[in-house]
Amino acid sequence: MEVVVAQSDVTEIDVDVLVVNLFEGVTKPDGATGAVDSALGGVISELISDGEITGSASELTLIHTPNSAYANFKPARVLVAGLGSSDSFDTDGIRRVSASVIRKLRSSGVKHAATIVHGAGIGGLETTSAAQATVEGALLGAYRFLKYRTTDKKRKADVGKLTIVEVDSSKVADISSGIERGVAYSHAEILARDLVNEPANKLAPADLAATAEKVAKENDLDYTVLEEADVAKLGMGAYIGVSQGGPRPLKFIHMSYEGDAGDPQNNLWLIGKGITFDSGGISIKPGAGMGKMKGDMGGGASVIAAIQAISQLKPKLNVHVVCAATDNMPGGSAQRPGDVVTAMNGMTIEIDNTDAEGRLTLADAIGYAKSRGAERIVDVATLTGAARIALGDGVSPVFGNDDELVNSVLDTSTTVGESMWRLPLDSVTKRQNASKIADLKNTGGRGGGSTTAAHFIADFAGDTPWVHIDVAATSMLDSTRGWMPAGATGVPTRSLIELAMNLGG
Ligand code: BES
Ligand code: MN
Ligand code: ZN
Repeated sequence: MEVVVAQSDVTEIDVDVLVVNLFEGVTKPDGATGAVDSALGGVISELISDGEITGSASELTLIHTPNSAYANFKPARVLVAGLGSSDSFDTDGIRRVSASVIRKLRSSGVKHAATIVHGAGIGGLETTSAAQATVEGALLGAYRFLKYRTTDKKRKADVGKLTIVEVDSSKVADISSGIERGVAYSHAEILARDLVNEPANKLAPADLAATAEKVAKENDLDYTVLEEADVAKLGMGAYIGVSQGGPRPLKFIHMSYEGDAGDPQNNLWLIGKGITFDSGGISIKPGAGMGKMKGDMGGGASVIAAIQAISQLKPKLNVHVVCAATDNMPGGSAQRPGDVVTAMNGMTIEIDNTDAEGRLTLADAIGYAKSRGAERIVDVATLTGAARIALGDGVSPVFGNDDELVNSVLDTSTTVGESMWRLPLDSVTKRQNASKIADLKNTGGRGGGSTTAAHFIADFAGDTPWVHIDVAATSMLDSTRGWMPAGATGVPTRSLIELAMNLGG
């Protein structure tokens, strides 16, 4: 979908559908909706007084406005979108309404739509961020993963073009920059979704690396991939232990964006878990739902996707992306429960359960980042089923050793509508990772499963400011929610982009 801005009166824009909106409880619309109402001889206020339009959230009313009946009104139809109460309206509300509007337009066969920016000026919302959210809702809400659906002939085509219409010329530049950001953020999140939705037989570590290389080439980023021999030389025994149970070669991906060449210390390392299929290994998972483990590289997908947008929006800091990609398989050369491996930083780990593999790969990815001068680390991982038990699938648990960095991540997550909540790294839970024969073991028992996993990673982060985001529950959804369709959500790609923009702004 192409998104553009047009400076025009809403009555004069030549499109299949013009989208306007209405807050709950408004009886006499003003602004653009009021202008449409007047041009149509009061039909919208009449529908309101008749009780057919109430302005409640998710209410969509399509009005046909043929030229034969309304000579001075160009749009062929008008869609009135309810916004709900104006008191609680925010950018999440904008993304939600924009997503349901775009799906409604698609199902009505619309090719070219125009919309006003939803919510600008309401409750202090700036034009730029309101425009950005309008675009994100449309692009993310229209997303479908259709590449393997070859026989579905009745499917409706996507809306081809969305014009954001604004009569006030002084707002056009802000809307333009909102569109630019919204497009970059959304395309990145869509890349992450595509990677997570891709079946594991189509996405090996080498394919993830190829995607990273393509992103790097297109956006002028530095890119290196380390092979098994390279990571063996660096001493990444924890990562290699995970990969040795399957035949597809591991790929250790490192991408970097240089936004502050004069100050290499001004850096942010984004590390994503990259398990291209998690069978559990010898501690094999039960069959039911195992197919979802094709998405166990969701953290890696989100960091690769985020650096794409970061390189386009150019914040003033250096961003590195690392993804230690591998399958976790139970082949004859797989590691066994009871094995002891040595991580890159020299720490020894007792493998209690081969299904707790993500933290092992992260341990060595963090070891690498630290050896290369990481000043701030954010890791993203589909790490523990316990994340869903703790917080459900609407909120990602966050852990960290640095209040400032944790709070920056939480702030950005609120801005972009990817909810997160901090959980404590308490000293009682930490003891659950103690091993009798090694420095650590890779599981911590039943209680606080997300916390013990985070404690494990914390031991490798050491005193480098570090945040861990567990997206096991939020990276894939069973059913559509607002701008997030069933399947991969792309979370927390937009939070990571926003974080880089804030740190380098
Ligand atoms: N990839 C899984 C976590 C996961 C579970 C992600 C469900 C998405 C949905 C991870 O590698 C795993 O298997 N974790 C184990 C850890 C346990 C063995 C300590 C878990 O959560 O059960
Ligand atoms: Mn696992
Ligand atoms: Zn896993």
